[in-house]
Amino acid sequence: MKASYYTNYGGIEQLSIRDIPEPTPTATQIKIRVHCATVNRTDCGFLTGKPFIARFFSGLRRPRFQVLGNEFAGEVVAIGNDVKRFKLGDRVFGYEGTHFGAHAEYMVMDENGGVGKIPDNIAFDQAAAACEGGHYALIDIQKAKVDKGSVVLVNGATGAIGSAAVQIMKHLGAEVVAVCGTDHLSTLKTLGADEVIDYRTSDFTQIDKQFDFIFDAVGKSTFAKCKRILKPKGIYVSTELGPYNQNPFLALVSKFSTGKKLLFPIPIINTGHVDFIANMLAIGTFKPLIDRTYQLEQTNEAFTYVLTGEKIGNVLLKIR
Ligand SMILES: NC(=O)c1ccc[n+]([C@@H]2O[C@H](COP(=O)([O-])OP(=O)(O)OC[C@H]3O[C@@H](n4cnc5c(N)ncnc54)[C@H](OP(=O)(O)O)[C@@H]3O)[C@@H](O)[C@H]2O)c1
Repeated sequence: MKASYYTNYGGIEQLSIRDIPEPTPTATQIKIRVHCATVNRTDCGFLTGKPFIARFFSGLRRPRFQVLGNEFAGEVVAIGNDVKRFKLGDRVFGYEGTHFGAHAEYMVMDENGGVGKIPDNIAFDQAAAACEGGHYALIDIQKAKVDKGSVVLVNGATGAIGSAAVQIMKHLGAEVVAVCGTDHLSTLKTLGADEVIDYRTSDFTQIDKQFDFIFDAVGKSTFAKCKRILKPKGIYVSTELGPYNQNPFLALVSKFSTGKKLLFPIPIINTGHVDFIANMLAIGTFKPLIDRTYQLEQTNEAFTYVLTGEKIGNVLLKIR
């Protein structure tokens, strides 16, 4: 099968399209013919081996797995003997953040991992872009206990994580203030944001409003700077470690706080998360934001674009 392949950490020069053997499912795995995947920031972390901490998961000196791609949508073409949740021909989607493998014509997934059935009314392209940003956002939002009536702010709301976060919190009934650049204010209104702030002309940490939850989906702010706009028991989450790698430490300290807290959840996807996302797709409350589409042969170009940090939402990689 054709796959985008790499053997060393580095830039896009490490990636090449090769013919490699198709994977074989174990007893609890399904084999998926991949129709569409994405190139995202998680792939970039595993390509470059940065930040270094990522190598504890991806391999210290060189990558443990040679095919990237963590988000996928495709159809089941083979199943292990013990598989119960899926049958041949099922249309499936999800996220595989340990072994990766979606930048290839076929991949395998454990049936109890981050995989679920694609709703009938949803195309492979939409499904492929639903779970990376979607599960990072969902896990943080659930930890922060956002619900109907919560007042929340999302910084970096046009990113893969941010754009999913806006839609998930609107779905839950929250009032959402979203922060992005000048060119994308109307996009965020389309996604359902109640109020939008342009970070190029205003500093959101100085606004006259307080929030139950501040979600910095691009990790550009700090807990210290956001404290004044958090309610007395407000929660702050960032997708980055912070300028001094301080966020995991502050999360430990916050455990003892009865007031404003910083949380730093470890995002581990499960079938419940995928089912939650599938339901939102089916009823139309989540429409993954798609920026550009590339073919498998153009994987290097897709990575070049995502590495700029300027993509909007998701970048698709068409495999079939
Ligand atoms: N280490 C990992 O494995 C890992 C995995 C996943 C995500 N992450 C981190 O999570 C973050 C979000 O990932 P993502 O895929 O959602 O990001 P992304 O899609 O690459 O985010 C790009 C967006 O960030 C916005 N942005 C840039 N500078 C900003 C600023 N100063 N204030 C507000 N928004 C700004 C841009 O919005 P405008 O165009 O509107 O300006 C752009 O749409 C990234 O920092 C990423 O590194 C890390």
